[in-house]
Amino acid sequence: RENPEWHGKTMLVTAGPTRETIDPVRYFTNRSSGKMGYAIAEEASARGANVTLISGPTNLPVPRGVNFISVESAEQMRQAVYSVFQENEMVIKCAAVADYRPKNTFDQKIKKQDGEWTIEMERTNDILKGLGERRTIGQTLVGFAAESQQIEEYAKKKIVSKNVDMIVANSITSPGSGFQGDTNEVTLYKRTGEVILVPMDTKVEVAKRILDEIMIIHKEIKK
Ligand code: PMT
Repeated sequence: RENPEWHGKTMLVTAGPTRETIDPVRYFTNRSSGKMGYAIAEEASARGANVTLISGPTNLPVPRGVNFISVESAEQMRQAVYSVFQENEMVIKCAAVADYRPKNTFDQKIKKQDGEWTIEMERTNDILKGLGERRTIGQTLVGFAAESQQIEEYAKKKIVSKNVDMIVANSITSPGSGFQGDTNEVTLYKRTGEVILVPMDTKVEVAKRILDEIMIIHKEIKK
């Protein structure tokens, strides 16, 4: 799998869910297993890239040869991503980052009481958007999108609003696609307007296709 084109390229991949604490025993999270992002990190590393993987909590083994940074919350992920962003020429944001977190977190477990409990939520920072504002010439930036409807419209909007080169859109409502499973079907929306359907396959094979397209974009950007 060694590939001279990839040798020594620097790539940052984020993967997995985030965990937003309520109290010492409770948190909000989502269904991301990390499989898609880890497959990308592993394949890029096998091709010869110098890969940093920033991951929320998963049950997956750390892929061989990658620099691994483990985080929990969206805010921790943001700080970790910002700390290494500049030194990576390709950045792929596959993590499912929480959009909201509890406004207050508690040091002690909240005791159950009669009646309802309302938890106030606040927005987290949009990491990808921040990277889009900070990117410099020569950097390739790729985001993911997990939408259940109007996928194409949202993907195209994200390219502009987040200033990325490509959006990898999962159809999370199609069986065998998106969160948790070993397979995925994605559509690649490039900033150039090109649209590529990557048919249902294992996440490992889909990762290879995504990386091939990223390299094509990266070579254009470097010109
Ligand atoms: O982990 P698996 O079980 O294998 O599942 C893979 C996956 C479905 C999680 C993955 O393929 C995927 O789609 N990841 C992105 C999921 C997501 O959060 O999509 P979004 O549409 O909410 O976010 C769009 C983009 O903005 C993403 O690149 C995300 O990393 C980024 N984002 C979102 C919120 C936020 N606060 N900061 C961000 O950077």
